[in-house]
Amino acid sequence: MSGGKHLRPIDASTVVLAIETSCDETAASLVMGGVDVLSSVVSSQIDLHAQYGGVVPEIAGRAHLDLLNPVVARAIVESGVHETRIDAVAATHGPGLIGALLVGVSAAKSWALTWDVPYIGVNHLEAHLYAGLLEKPELELPLVVLLVSGGHTMLIEMRDHGQYRLLGRTIDDAAGEAFDKVARFLGLGYPGGPAVEAIAREGDANAVDFPRAMRNDGLDFSFSGLKTSVINFVRKNPSVRNADVAASFQIAVVDVLVHKARVAAEQVGAKGVVLGGGVAANSLLRQRFAAMCAEDGRDCLVPSPAMCTDNAAMIGAAAWHRLRSDGPTTLDTGAFPNLRLPLMEGSW
Ligand code: KG4
Ligand code: ZN
Repeated sequence: MSGGKHLRPIDASTVVLAIETSCDETAASLVMGGVDVLSSVVSSQIDLHAQYGGVVPEIAGRAHLDLLNPVVARAIVESGVHETRIDAVAATHGPGLIGALLVGVSAAKSWALTWDVPYIGVNHLEAHLYAGLLEKPELELPLVVLLVSGGHTMLIEMRDHGQYRLLGRTIDDAAGEAFDKVARFLGLGYPGGPAVEAIAREGDANAVDFPRAMRNDGLDFSFSGLKTSVINFVRKNPSVRNADVAASFQIAVVDVLVHKARVAAEQVGAKGVVLGGGVAANSLLRQRFAAMCAEDGRDCLVPSPAMCTDNAAMIGAAAWHRLRSDGPTTLDTGAFPNLRLPLMEGSW
C-alpha cells in the first residue's frame, strides 16, 4: 500500500513535515525543497534520562508519545504555512530504539493517510549527512563527511545524492560512546560529551599522553583502548585532576578524528569536508577541523551545534531527496533498529 495518492511533482516548493524520534529527542520540522527550513522544534528528554546515567528505551518511547503531538503542532504553527500545504510526511525509520522509532513512524503514517500525502521513511544516518548541506547547499560534491555520534563514527565519501562509500568506521566504541563512558567513570554525569568538554576547559591537554590508537593505520578508528587507558591511569594516579584527564582524553580523540578526516579527503580528492553528528558539537573538534580545512585549502562545513545533534530538519532534507529519487515509502514498511547507511556497490 503506497503512502498517499496525490503525489505532486517534487520541486523547490515541496513542503515536507519531518519527524525524528529515534533516540531521546522528539523533533519535528517543516522543510521546503530539501533546503529551506521553515521551522525546527526539538524537545530533549535529557532531564528524564539523566538520573539513570543514560537513555532508558522504555522511558524514551513513552516520552515520545507524550511529546510528539505538541512538538508537531508547534512546528506547523512556527512554519507559518497551513497544514494543507504539507506535501509529504517523513519520519526516521532507523537506526534507533525500536519503541522510540515506532512512535514517529506510526504517527507519520497516520498523518500521511489523513492528509492523503506520501509517507517517507528516512535513514537517520543519511539525514546526518544532509545536516551539513542544509546550511551550505552550494557545497560541491564529492564531499568527505566525518560522522561522529553516540552510536557511530564513520568517514563517508558522498559522491552524489544517495551515492555513499564507507571509507572508515570504528572497530569498537563510537567517539561519543567513549566520551559518555569516560564521563561516567569520572562521575561527570550524562550526557558525557558536553560534561567532558566543560571540565576540560580548566584542564591541561598535555597532562597525560593518552594513546592515539590506529592513528597512522588506515581510516578505521578504535576508541575502546583509549577509554581503558583513562580508567587505568586514574586508578594508578588517584590524585590526578579530573580536568587534566578530561582535557588529555579530549585532545586524543580530536587528534585522531581530524587526522583521519584529512587523510580521507586527500585520498578521494574531496572538494570539501563536512562534520556531522552529536560529537561535532565539541568546540575543540570544531576548531581543529576548521583549521585543518583552512591549511589544506578545502571547502569546510562545521554545522551549527543545533544541526549536529539530532533534529528533524535534517530528516526533512534527506526525505526530499529520497522522495525525488525513490518515490514514497509504502505504508507496510516498518521500523529498523539496525538500519545501515545504503552504500554503493563495491563499498562495504
Ligand atoms: O548524534 P547524537 O545527538 O545522537 C546519536 O548518537 O545519534 O550524538 C550524541 C552523542 C553523545 O555520545 C554525546 O555525549 C555526544 O554526542 N556529544 C558530545 C558533545 N555534545 C554531544 N561529545 C563531545 N563534545 C560535545 N560537546
Ligand atoms: Zn543522531
